[in-house]
Amino acid sequence: MKKYIVEGGNPLFGEVHISGAKNAAVAIIPAALMVDGVCRIENIPQISDVSLLLSILQDLGAHIRSINKNTVEIDARAIRNSQVPYDSARRCRASYYMIGSLLGRFGFADVALPGGCDFGGTRPIDQHLKGFKALGAEVEVQGGFIKATATKGRLSGANIFFDKVSVGATINIMLSAALSEGLTVLENVAKEPHIVDVANFLNSMGADIKGAGTDVIKIRGVDSLHGGTYSIIPDQIEAGTYMAALAACGGQIKVCNIIPKHMDCITAKLLEMGVEVEEIDDSLLVRRIGPLGKANIKTMPYPGFPTDMQPQFAAALCVAQGTSIITESVWSSRFRYADEFKRMGAQIQVNENLAIIEGVDHLTGAQLQACDLRAGAAMIIAALSAYGRSEIIGVQYIERGYEDVIEKFRKLGASITAEEVADEEAALSAG
Ligand code: UD1
Repeated sequence: MKKYIVEGGNPLFGEVHISGAKNAAVAIIPAALMVDGVCRIENIPQISDVSLLLSILQDLGAHIRSINKNTVEIDARAIRNSQVPYDSARRCRASYYMIGSLLGRFGFADVALPGGCDFGGTRPIDQHLKGFKALGAEVEVQGGFIKATATKGRLSGANIFFDKVSVGATINIMLSAALSEGLTVLENVAKEPHIVDVANFLNSMGADIKGAGTDVIKIRGVDSLHGGTYSIIPDQIEAGTYMAALAACGGQIKVCNIIPKHMDCITAKLLEMGVEVEEIDDSLLVRRIGPLGKANIKTMPYPGFPTDMQPQFAAALCVAQGTSIITESVWSSRFRYADEFKRMGAQIQVNENLAIIEGVDHLTGAQLQACDLRAGAAMIIAALSAYGRSEIIGVQYIERGYEDVIEKFRKLGASITAEEVADEEAALSAG
């Protein structure tokens, strides 16, 4: 295991190239399991969640060929097994997509309940289960496993109105319905860019999915999917993380290889905070010369402000002028990072789903522990803006979702290095 060492207090300058979207990749890899042919997936980020899902597919019997760092070929035709053990599933939230894809392909799935980031509240999957049942599956939760069986051997199309807008449930039901019989209509769905990307992936392999990115998705089931090549969209949250870092540290960076439209909810907030953002083709030039202004943020499903950007913006708002209020409305609470920021001198008070931040002139470096993926990214941002040295442990969370994070920040002039951690420190971060 590693720790990151950051010497903060300097502005950022240079270019950063954004990788493929984590949350699209972790759904597209399970989706490849449903394809009757070879899928070539390009722009796949090299992160630990991706490696884990590829290894799950391999354990099930798929052939995986790495073409280069960001391209893999998946041939899942030899898979006969529909069981994903606890040891694999618990390490990644997105392992729940294996239920939808195995159920769609085989009419049966037996998958251990997922793990993933702990935001300090529950992460229910009742809407996924409601969807599978509506498509004609019998679902049992037994001994930590979800066993889902299509009672007629194959799922059948249905109308499903989700009670809650859920990224995971939208994608999972879209996966299983792609190979079902007849028409499925999903209402009150999530509209995140990665929902559209998964639909585009499936369509390019022969599925018939319309409306992804709107409130209603219509899926006409097909008998099989064929192989093909697909390139994953750029990661909105990774791009936003570098933009938030620029806001906290000042300077000027070009965030390259993105879809600027996907960044609108983040760009709008930065403009409010006095950060300049200029669109240049598939890049954004982001600059802050003057002081950083306060902002109020309320997290919402897309196209609202993403919950996955909330901790990184909180890090920047700790050094903004004035009082900012963050309302977390997607998760019941997601402020486990606040105590770490306080140890750096931040003035942040948390009350249930609200955080009130009084901006201070600067933070001071400290020993920090990443408690989840985006909180970990926020700690890098806080450490980069802080005066002095910080050490961050628990960085395995960060590496679940950020490709080459050290190298990318170093290219922007940041002083950040990784060091191996002794066993006792690793044990502390795992706890
Ligand atoms: C995905 C993202 C995660 C992000 C979240 C919200 C992945 C792998 N993870 O998580 O990074 O923070 O979207 O943008 O893509 N809910 C229910 N019942 C369900 C499902 C969800 O009540 O069956 C609730 C959740 O408790 C939460 C809200 O709906 O309050 C949103 O959850 P959801 O969109 O499903 O999040 P995930 O797919 O788990």
